[in-house]
Amino acid sequence: MPLPPLQPNRHKGKLIIVEGIDGSGKSTQLSLLAQYLRAQGKPVAFSAWNSSPLVKETTRRGKKKEMFTPTTFSLIHATDFADRMERYILPMLKAGAIVCADRYAFTAFARDVVRGVSRQWVRNLYRFAVKPNLAFYFRVPLEVAIGRILGGRDAIKYYEAGMDVGLSRNIVESFRLFQGRILEEYDAMAEEMGFHIIDATGSIEKQQQQMRAIVDRELSSSPPAPSPRRRSAPSAEGQAQ
Ligand SMILES: Nc1ncnc2c1ncn2[C@@H]1O[C@H](COP(=O)(O)OP(=O)(O)O)[C@@H](O)[C@H]1O
Ligand SMILES: [Mg+2]
Repeated sequence: MPLPPLQPNRHKGKLIIVEGIDGSGKSTQLSLLAQYLRAQGKPVAFSAWNSSPLVKETTRRGKKKEMFTPTTFSLIHATDFADRMERYILPMLKAGAIVCADRYAFTAFARDVVRGVSRQWVRNLYRFAVKPNLAFYFRVPLEVAIGRILGGRDAIKYYEAGMDVGLSRNIVESFRLFQGRILEEYDAMAEEMGFHIIDATGSIEKQQQQMRAIVDRELSSSPPAPSPRRRSAPSAEGQAQ
């Protein structure tokens, strides 16, 4: 059976998303891109994975008490995503903004499948999602990403390490195995999803240059329509980062 597609973006705005494993440099690159676009006076809106206030408290409690199963973990993230889609991303696209999303449905396609959820089921769950105009995949070897993360951060958290999957009782080892499997899932879907693959081992500047060139091309081929009135332009501070 063919996998269900995402919805084409029929709105004035543009949707640009970044994907990749933890430590691949997504957030660094997306914030530099947002700066670049804002400096040109373009209306930029930002949306981060797992940031909807609607389910924040439940997610926090569920994680703290380690209560999620793969299905409930997937569903709560889908609810978070649906809330951001309907209340923020879609209105911003309709208003003509360039919406920059740090992680998108593909995160669920990779992670939830590694957790044991059916590939078909999770794609079906997210089929209401708007297809991005540009999807960047920051591809990086596992060891490079892990080196960046372990170098600059506090303890790895239970779900982040995929401890619920039972790959290892050692949290660092579990994190390594879990992220390695997610990496495989990303690689496997890259072509099908039309990802622009960025070699994320390159310097921050080099990657940003590549990203800007691709974005410039996309925006010049069909620029987002300017907002009808200046004061209706979406603000940059719409959503938690
Ligand atoms: N190209 C790069 N080379 C070296 N370190 C990088 C590079 N890009 C990002 N970093 C660093 O790696 C860490 C993770 O980057 P981040 O952008 O937060 O990744 P992600 O959002 O994918 O988890 C940060 O400390 C960041 O400064
Ligand atoms: Mg990040």
